[in-house]
Parts: sequence; structure tokens; C-alpha cells
Amino acid sequence: MTETSATMDAPQTATAKPHLPDAQTVTQVTHWTDNLFSFRVTRPRSLRFRSGEFVMIGLLGDNGKPLLRAYSIASPAWDEELEFYSIKVPDGPLTSRLQHIQPGDEIILRPKPVGTLVHDALLPGKRIWFLATGTGLAPFASLMREPETYEKYEQVIMMHTCRTVAELEYGRRLVESLKDDPLIGELVGDKLLYYPTTTREDFHHTGRVTDNLTSGKVFADLGLPAMNPAEDRAMVCGSLAFNIDVKKILEDFGLKEGANSDPQQFVVEKAFVGDGI
Ligand code: FAD
Ligand code: A2P
Repeated sequence: MTETSATMDAPQTATAKPHLPDAQTVTQVTHWTDNLFSFRVTRPRSLRFRSGEFVMIGLLGDNGKPLLRAYSIASPAWDEELEFYSIKVPDGPLTSRLQHIQPGDEIILRPKPVGTLVHDALLPGKRIWFLATGTGLAPFASLMREPETYEKYEQVIMMHTCRTVAELEYGRRLVESLKDDPLIGELVGDKLLYYPTTTREDFHHTGRVTDNLTSGKVFADLGLPAMNPAEDRAMVCGSLAFNIDVKKILEDFGLKEGANSDPQQFVVEKAFVGDGI
């Protein structure tokens, strides 16, 4: 892991550059693997969002027009900065450049948060399941730091699956830091059950989220009853194939999909588009 950061008092390289529309300044960048990094930026004073929502961010393209992509805000609504957790797509129009940002640089951030992974889209329940693969963890990095999550539910289960152990590290560190967090550590207590797994490398727990749900292994490992519509709520964020497979499993458990306008028992959002389906 390599980390670069700047305090906001330090001279900003960005001041020498022309200002971007809706510009925000990068304050910290951490590279987790060759294809994953996280970064923090200043937050527009007027930006209000619900933990779990996403915004459009980007850079100026070569043609002088904004090159924007959807990004989940990984920080909670109370944080004075904004955090993002990103893939590095080698030939990706945005991330082939975004991966080189440094503290002091500017990015574009359109301050119009939207999304379905919000508490308002679910009916009250006893447990909430956060189900993610890869960068699909990002909205849950926000929701795991959101007090409302622990006020609304007795137990919070974070299932995150990646190919390798290194790809789990951002989430692992975040979960570990929650215990000692002065703002929400006490609220989190022992409510958060973290269940990371790998599929292409040895680890203490392995296997796809889908397989660990259908086999009942995750329920046995965590000492929980099988999912049921009276007690369990879920939020899902991964590739389209993952989302489709998980949706079917949740429906087989009797849960019904909801939305902001129609709160039900689970909600789904794509972590990215374009995986061939
Ligand atoms: P693109 O041209 O956008 O993508 C090229 C290809 O790379 C895609 O066809 C796909 O196969 C693959 N790809 C793109 N994004 C990912 C990814 N995240 N994981 C695995 N493969 C990917 N991306 C993030 O890294 N973090 C986020 O928090 C995030 N939130 C999103 C929220 C929503 C609602 C949506 C729709 C997408 C989100 N994305 C997120 C994806 C993001 O919008 C971009 O696709 C990504 O930043 C790559 O941009 P690009 O221009 O480099 O490549
Ligand atoms: P697997 O290694 O068995 O394909 P990717 O890196 O391809 O985006 O995948 C991220 C993680 O999500 C991997 O651990 C992968 O498992 C898992 N995964 C991919 N597709 C699905 C799916 N349809 N259902 C469940 N897990 C999936």
C-alpha cells in the first residue's frame, strides 16, 4: 500500500492550473493494488447526500469536455471530505488517467447525488446484509460508517468477495478502524459481522457470496438463521452477473426488491456497467 496526502494548508499544485468546472481538490491518495486505489477530495459546502449514494466525477477530456463516470461515495454523509474507492482499468478513458492523481490536483465532481442503496428504500428489519464484489464495496464503506445503519438494525453483515486477499485490504482496514472510531465505534460495538472471502487464492473463508448463501455456510459460520423476509434486509452491489444471481437467491429466500419510491426488503445497484451481459 502506498499513500500520499497533503494538509489543506500546504501549497496546492492545483492553484497553478486553470480551475475545472465543479472542481474539488484531492487531499489523499492510497494505492492498494496494481488495479485498486482510494482517494479523498474536498467536499462542496452545499453537497448533501444520503450514505450509499453515488455522484458523477471525472477529469477534463482531451477535447476540453468533462469526462465523467458514476462513483459511489465511499465516505459517510457526516464526513467533511469525500472518499472514493476506484478500479484502474488499463485502457479505461477515465481511470487510465485518474489513477495518477496526486494531492493538490483537481477533479470534477457534479454535486447531484442519487442511488438506490439507501436506508429509505428498505422496510424496517432486524438484520441488514451488505453483499458486494470488488469495488461494489464502495457504497457499503459509506453505510458501514453511517450511524443510522446501527440505529436501525441489530446486526449488520458485510459479505465482500474478491479474487485475491490483497483486493480485500481496503475493506479489511476500514472494518478494523471502526472499533476505535471516536464517532461511531461505540455504536458499531459487536453489531458488525464482517465476512470477506476470496475465490482464486487461499484464505480463511473462500467462495462466492452466492455459493455461501445457497449452501448455508455463511449462516452456519456466523451463527445466524437462514435469511427470511420478516427479519432480513439486503443491499447488493457488484457486476451485473453478480447482481442478477444474488437477486434470484434473495427472492428464493422470500425477499422482495424495493426502491426509493417503494421500500421493500432488498435493493440492488450496479458497481459498474459493461461486463458483457
Ligand atoms: P469504462 O469505459 O467506464 O469501463 C471500461 C470497462 O472496465 C467496463 O466495460 C468494465 O468491463 C470495466 N470496469 C469499469 N468499472 C469497473 C469496476 N469498478 N470494477 C470492475 N470492472 C470495471 N467504479 C469504481 O471504481 N468505483 C465506484 O465506486 C464506482 N461506482 C459506480 C456506481 C455506479 C452506479 C456505476 C454505474 C458505475 C460505478 N463505477 C465505479 C464504474 C465507473 O463508473 C467507471 O466505469 C470506472 O471508473 C471505469 O471508468 P473508465 O472510463 O476508466 O472505463
Ligand atoms: P470468481 O473468481 O469465481 O469468478 P471479477 O474480478 O471478475 O469482477 O470478480 C470479482 C469477484 O466476484 C470474484 O471473486 C468472482 O468470483 C466473483 N463473481 C463474479 N461473478 C459472480 C457471480 N455471477 N456470482 C457471484 N460471484 C461472482
